[in-house]
Amino acid sequence: MVRCAVFASGGGSNFQSLIDRRASGELHAELGVLIVNNSGAGAVERAEKNGIPVVHCAPTRFAGEAQYVAALQTHLDRYGAQLLVLAGYMKKLPVSIVQKYRNRIINIHPGLLPSFGGKGMYGKKVHQAVLEYGAKVSGITIHFVDEEYDHGPIIHQVPVAVKDDDTADSLAARVLEAEHAHYWKVVEAIGRGALRVEGHRVFGEV
Ligand code: GRF
Repeated sequence: MVRCAVFASGGGSNFQSLIDRRASGELHAELGVLIVNNSGAGAVERAEKNGIPVVHCAPTRFAGEAQYVAALQTHLDRYGAQLLVLAGYMKKLPVSIVQKYRNRIINIHPGLLPSFGGKGMYGKKVHQAVLEYGAKVSGITIHFVDEEYDHGPIIHQVPVAVKDDDTADSLAARVLEAEHAHYWKVVEAIGRGALRVEGHRVFGEV
């Protein structure tokens, strides 16, 4: 079973969806540790309820970048993390971690990349931009993480239709449902070695 370290900054509903799929027996992965950059993250309570250790690791808690990276690495090593799963993680991971775990860090974005992504495009801002632009289709993108925001090789995308009467909130709610329905499948596919990465392209069935 693939050993995952989950990273979250917010409510953690995607983290919860992984916990639930694991509990139902659909997801064969270990959720070994939750790493947060702010102790107020709702995800913390979800971890505690499910007996998953929580690590609070933020750059501001260390004297410098090197100490921060070393601490992060120590936590990942301690849990033997094989896959880093970003689930609403608002902090950019250090470049050295991105390089070390190339194609072993995944992120979920509430839009169809490369549209409506990049620095500053998160949460409701994505859905507002989709509506303002007048796009008829939005969706989710699950991708490997590289050095740029919302840029790494795309693993899986699922479209979500935009309705005429959608608000940013109603669209966000439907997109989030799609996130919960699909993120675990990518973790599962990686766990069973079903994906192959060549350059910027990912091949294989999710
Ligand atoms: C999700 O919309 C995800 O796509 C984005 O951050 C949000 C996290 O939501 N990366 P939650 O904390 O999992 O509820």
